[in-house]
Amino acid sequence: MGKVYFIAGATKGIGLQLATQLSQADSSNTVIATARNTNSSNKLNGLVSKQENVHIVKLDLSSEESINGIDEQISSLVSKTGIDVLIVNGALGDSTPFRDLDRKTYIDHYLVNVLGPIQVVNVLHKYLVKASTKQIFFTSSAAGQVSSFIPFETGAYGHTKAALNHSALQLSVHYKNEGFTVIPLHPGIVDTDLANAAFDKLPEEHAALGKTFRDQFVSPAESASHIISNIINKVTVEDSGKFFNYDGTVLPY
Ligand SMILES: NC(=O)c1ccc[n+]([C@@H]2O[C@H](COP(=O)([O-])OP(=O)(O)OC[C@H]3O[C@@H](n4cnc5c(N)ncnc54)[C@H](OP(=O)(O)O)[C@@H]3O)[C@@H](O)[C@H]2O)c1
Repeated sequence: MGKVYFIAGATKGIGLQLATQLSQADSSNTVIATARNTNSSNKLNGLVSKQENVHIVKLDLSSEESINGIDEQISSLVSKTGIDVLIVNGALGDSTPFRDLDRKTYIDHYLVNVLGPIQVVNVLHKYLVKASTKQIFFTSSAAGQVSSFIPFETGAYGHTKAALNHSALQLSVHYKNEGFTVIPLHPGIVDTDLANAAFDKLPEEHAALGKTFRDQFVSPAESASHIISNIINKVTVEDSGKFFNYDGTVLPY
């Protein structure tokens, strides 16, 4: 029997590939894929037109009202089955260093990258408890690592990914008794709009790092395929609270 997946932030990059591969893996899977703008998300609409098991839902992670609005869009679809797997993937990725600190950028990043994901879990919890799988994944980043900090500034992006990891740890404790598996994951260094925009903006002193990172690029399709086979399809409740790399190894926080 297929599973029900909810992917928050699936219009392009890694999220679109997760939606594509999870929907194509088994026609009895149901994939709910979100977009801020459902009309103009052409790649995701292209997938919906090819795959009957993909459903597009409107969601802006920066807006409490929008997150609360998920429920009425999906209730008829999942009220009986529940949701097996939640993947909160969408994010903002500005790495402007502290010396150019702009308060609005930081606040926007906290809304989208930290508070939004937590609120999505709160809104979808009633559907996640209905299914037996009970898995929650957050697409996080090695940029949020503290104990193996890569020595360059990632500004609001690194800040909020560290906070997202801490949120995942808290949720893993909070939902332990309900049998949930809660996992933040690093998807690799992936050739997407978010990564390219961040590397383009690296300050002069880190230009060489930008090249080093680009040399390690994997495609969004490769990243998603590794995430599915090495993490989503493999982890058990014993892994809850661990920070996973896309190759299936466990990273230090
Ligand atoms: N690429 C990398 O090397 C890399 C490395 C580490 C971690 N990551 C993480 O991977 C995840 C996916 O990023 P990506 O690299 O695939 O980038 P991407 O191709 O630029 O995709 C970013 C996604 O985030 C969505 N998004 C942005 N703001 C949103 C909001 N307010 N509400 C809902 N969705 C929103 C976008 O949707 P719209 O079309 O609506 O804007 C889009 O689907 C992110 O969490 C990122 O931090 C990426």
